[in-house]
Amino acid sequence: MNRQTPPLVSGAVPGAGHAIEFYRDRPGLIRRGFAEHGSVFAIKLASQNVAVVVGPENQKQFFMETDKSLNIQEPYRFLKAMFGETLFLADHEEYVRQRPFVQEMFKREKMLYYVDVMQEVIQTWLDALGDSGEMELTGEITHLVQEVAGNCFLGKEAHQEIGREFWEQYKYLSQALDPLLPPDLPHPKFIRRDRAKTRMLEILQPIIARRRQNPAAYDDFLQDIIMKEDRAGNLIEEETALNMLIGFMFAGHETTAGQAAWTIILLLQNPAYLERVQAEIAQVAPYPVHIDPKRMIQLHHIEWAVREVERLRPSADMLMRTVQEEVQFGDYVIPEGWLVQVTQGIGHKLPAYFERPEQFDPLRYAPGREEDKQDRFLLFGFGGGAHKCTGMNFANNEMTLITALLFREFDLELMTPDPHVVQGMGANHPSETIVRYRRKQAAATAVLPEMALAGA
Ligand code: HEM
Repeated sequence: MNRQTPPLVSGAVPGAGHAIEFYRDRPGLIRRGFAEHGSVFAIKLASQNVAVVVGPENQKQFFMETDKSLNIQEPYRFLKAMFGETLFLADHEEYVRQRPFVQEMFKREKMLYYVDVMQEVIQTWLDALGDSGEMELTGEITHLVQEVAGNCFLGKEAHQEIGREFWEQYKYLSQALDPLLPPDLPHPKFIRRDRAKTRMLEILQPIIARRRQNPAAYDDFLQDIIMKEDRAGNLIEEETALNMLIGFMFAGHETTAGQAAWTIILLLQNPAYLERVQAEIAQVAPYPVHIDPKRMIQLHHIEWAVREVERLRPSADMLMRTVQEEVQFGDYVIPEGWLVQVTQGIGHKLPAYFERPEQFDPLRYAPGREEDKQDRFLLFGFGGGAHKCTGMNFANNEMTLITALLFREFDLELMTPDPHVVQGMGANHPSETIVRYRRKQAAATAVLPEMALAGA
């Protein structure tokens, strides 16, 4: 057996290794590593060794070895200061205990309810836009997605009660995401994070207490999660319920907002494909019909556009594990204590699988091509294996609805021609993007070209 560790990418400086470049230009560093060494290579973040692994075989091993030789809690421990011992941040036994609460949240009948709530919230937003104007898309969609999450997970009444103050605290949590510094350092950003978390708990606590005192008066998602019992018949602890709620809404809103905004931007930058989308909306869900799940699954061109955004502009592009038992990736051995990382910046653009990989081409998922079907671990914008994103369907439905409802009511023009990716430690998003909009005549409909229906 080859005992060599992966080759180190050029440019490491004594002491810091690649840490400075990692903060400044993560994708550039990873691209260089791949160009220099191929599908398994190493970077150094100060004293921490990190193996970067690329390609469907390695990606499969990364996801399938999680909770075995690879550990998911350790590399995300910096999140524990925000969300405590919840979800994948908890040890495996506790994770398994909490899983039924999470599954409850995304049951089929819940999803049907969420789709209705999403539509109502998005429609309220569209109605408030007026007939024409300009908006900063990234901020606008972030606000919209927060409204959707709040209304779906907390219910209308509780969401109104928490108000904007609750959501404003999330920016202090995001600013404190830092995989390198110890999370309990008395650094101003960590002090702001702790204050924000305390304030969020203060806002949510009275709502939960009231609901637990009077359980028969409520029947919604929030009630389910705070009244659900685990297998041993115990109610979830209040602290865990609060942390799960805050964690869910964190995991779900910035990520979804980023990809939803990119879907709109990339469609506006690709007018020929947008025409197909417009024609499909006119055929399947013309204004003002309600888009029920039966109609939604016929919006193939939007579904493919949303998937293409997952491939090209993934919000969560830094998935990490800690090696707890030595593993072999390709020709190299990765010792205990190293980190392993998969990265869509390279993994989603392999020319062996994707035709003209840099191009926005949603028809690559259409019947006849289906490039993503070549391997289950080729696309991993939502992760893979046992820890694959619980909110994936929720997010995809939401992005589909935002796109369909917005484009069927408004003509849009991109005033910022070339937005770029702002790389976050939690989630990526587009830079400030101004979009001009004008309401269409309500009755206006397009004719669906035959070829669009056939997905040709
Ligand atoms: C476009 C939107 C989203 C993206 C790109 C995204 C991405 C991801 C990724 C990549 C993972 C796996 C992390 C890893 O393996 O290291 C993940 C896990 C997770 N996501 Fe999402 N997510 C999105 C939306 C949501 C939503 C809406 C929710 C819930 C409301 C959510 C809740 C979760 C949870 C709970 C996990 C942990 C699953 C587990 O460990 O069992 N996500 N997400």
